[in-house]
Amino acid sequence: MIQLTNKYLTDESAAFIISDKKQIKDIQLSKVEMNFAEKVLDNKANFVHINSFYKSLFILLVNSEKDEFTQLEDIRKSGNRIITEIKELKLETINIVNLGSENFTYALCEGIMLSKYGFHKYFKDKAEKTSSLKEIKVVSSSTDSTKVDLLNALIEGVYNARDIVNEPLSFMTAQKLSQEIERIGKETGFKTEILDKKQIESLKMGGLIAVNRGSIHPPTFSIMRWEPENAINEKPYVFVGKGLVFDTGGINLKPSGYLETMKCDKAGGATVVGLMAAIAKAKLPIKVIGLVPATDNRPGNDAYVPEDIITMFDGTTVEVLNTDAEGRMILADALAYAKKYKPQLVIDLATLTGAAVVAVGENTTAVMGNTPKEIEKLKTIGFEVWEKLVELPLWDEYKEQLKSSVADLKNIGGKYAGAITAGKFLEHFTDYDWIHLDIAGPAFTEKDDSYRGIGGTGVGVRLLFEFLKQKAN
Ligand code: BES
Ligand code: ZN
Ligand code: ZN
Repeated sequence: MIQLTNKYLTDESAAFIISDKKQIKDIQLSKVEMNFAEKVLDNKANFVHINSFYKSLFILLVNSEKDEFTQLEDIRKSGNRIITEIKELKLETINIVNLGSENFTYALCEGIMLSKYGFHKYFKDKAEKTSSLKEIKVVSSSTDSTKVDLLNALIEGVYNARDIVNEPLSFMTAQKLSQEIERIGKETGFKTEILDKKQIESLKMGGLIAVNRGSIHPPTFSIMRWEPENAINEKPYVFVGKGLVFDTGGINLKPSGYLETMKCDKAGGATVVGLMAAIAKAKLPIKVIGLVPATDNRPGNDAYVPEDIITMFDGTTVEVLNTDAEGRMILADALAYAKKYKPQLVIDLATLTGAAVVAVGENTTAVMGNTPKEIEKLKTIGFEVWEKLVELPLWDEYKEQLKSSVADLKNIGGKYAGAITAGKFLEHFTDYDWIHLDIAGPAFTEKDDSYRGIGGTGVGVRLLFEFLKQKAN
């Protein structure tokens, strides 16, 4: 928990943020401490740890030659370093004393809180794994806790998203995912409606049904609604997340090496849930709908096979040429379903293609869409929160690759531009302002990656929360 405090008690641990070496004089340090800190900083370092065992003092020197967004990211990473260095010390409280811009404080809180996260549910000894840190005290003369409250809500949302991604299929089937969504909705205040297999069938969501046919677990379609009375918008913002609880590839079975990490194929859905939770907790005055179609993709007895022709929710027919291109099948139905809300804007998130990772790398989201102004906004916020986006074009030429001789569309394109042909496929099912985020790269890390952690990163929650926050203002 992050909270405000008006006074720093010098017997507690603290982190001091300074943007000029000279400011070290303004920090309450003993002579020995001061000498030590000066020596370290003179050595071109920008991070000092004075470890007195009962408490730790940290000094973060922000590099004034860098641009603001890079400075913020450096600070978040220092937050990770703090968490790493206090691991053995079992500290429970840390104060943040900021002698620079206010944004630095919140970046440090973010870095610390996101680094503190761990997925420990399955360890016999959970306590041993859990970080001892309980509270961050932001030292401030102000008593307005709005920013702190928003940040606490956001952090919780990222935790929710990471928890969902990190759960394996042995726990999190589509039905379990929906139950989690209901639970989180009750806890944070958004409304939920879960469509079960029967309802999905009677709605004729052909894409979702086809992908689910190889599974022994029924599919679900979760609808989340946050519609506060003081909303600034008439038409809602709609978020659609891919909820593939495990992707084996289906009949086009993935080889080993490609199966591991595929519990992350519900990361888009997880992000939508985390975002809804954060918005509801923060009580943002903005109408938002979340949609998560969910199933696993497996080569069971009745699995859909290549050359099947599927009639989708909106009546479009699709020739399946690869059962591993299943994400677009379930998203297409959800995107067509979203039309009924007459949305202001629809943003979908999906771990959709390996091609997006090849194109823009592991840490970057590929963005596509038909609304340049909103895409520009997202890109800027991407730098601000360091969930960076690179835009790929949706030129009509690419659609040629999806032509089928027996149906309206094929579900795969050719050898090249796979992230874009997937985007073109989705575009077919939209008739509103729309943005597609392919998060196949940044959704999941196999190696510990600073405050992004290991496993599910919750990518997109911070990006979209900031996007909505700016809309609501
Ligand atoms: N879930 C995968 C995409 C993916 C790859 C996510 C790596 C995360 C990390 C998706 O369903 C898939 O299998 N896509 C295929 C599409 C192809 C068959 C056209 C791919 O990218 O190979
Ligand atoms: Zn797949
Ligand atoms: Zn997939």
